[in-house]
Amino acid sequence: KKVGVLISGSGTNLQALIDHTTDNNNSSAEITLVISNKAGVMGLERAQKAGIETMVINHKDYGDREKFDDALHKALTEAEVDIVCLAGFMRILTGGFVNKWNGRMLNIHPSLLPSFKGHNPHEQVIETNVRISGCTVHFVAEEVDAGAIIVQESVPVYPGDSVTSLANRVKSVEHEAFPRALELVASEQAILQEDGSVTWQLA
Ligand code: GRF
Repeated sequence: KKVGVLISGSGTNLQALIDHTTDNNNSSAEITLVISNKAGVMGLERAQKAGIETMVINHKDYGDREKFDDALHKALTEAEVDIVCLAGFMRILTGGFVNKWNGRMLNIHPSLLPSFKGHNPHEQVIETNVRISGCTVHFVAEEVDAGAIIVQESVPVYPGDSVTSLANRVKSVEHEAFPRALELVASEQAILQEDGSVTWQLA
């Protein structure tokens, strides 16, 4: 399956996806396009180094969210992308776009959903004094950080953790979870159903 990855920044998850889909010849997924809404970010360099086509589609060049999302959709369909991965993509997508990619778009969120949705999960985790956090890879639904869960990984939260120390610990498991979830979807072992649930055909 051809995979398009949307990023906004450093792209360490993108790197993990690249590493797992190129080093492993058995991969069902191949990353063929990386789109960033910001120019000059490290993730674009990572893609270029791997010989993957890159594009910058800057949201500031578009009048509204619909027009921006239409430009994304056009780029992805022209590249014949089958599956979209949101890997640190910091824009909220319109319902229209989400529906077009229903069952074919994955997001990673750095908490154990459905707990700690939103843009600052690590702050919320530390504030709440829970002792376990982690990451979630899920199908993208219109409601932010909702959608059927594909893979989760947990990490301990230590007393004295800062947002940075916790974010780094969570990221190390993100880099395992995202490639695993992509493989499950690309190989059709995890399929999103009309009712929003996942059917599993584990190999
Ligand atoms: C990750 O923590 C991801 O869960 C969140 O944004 C961050 C992106 O990091 N959605 P990177 O660009 O992959 O390093």
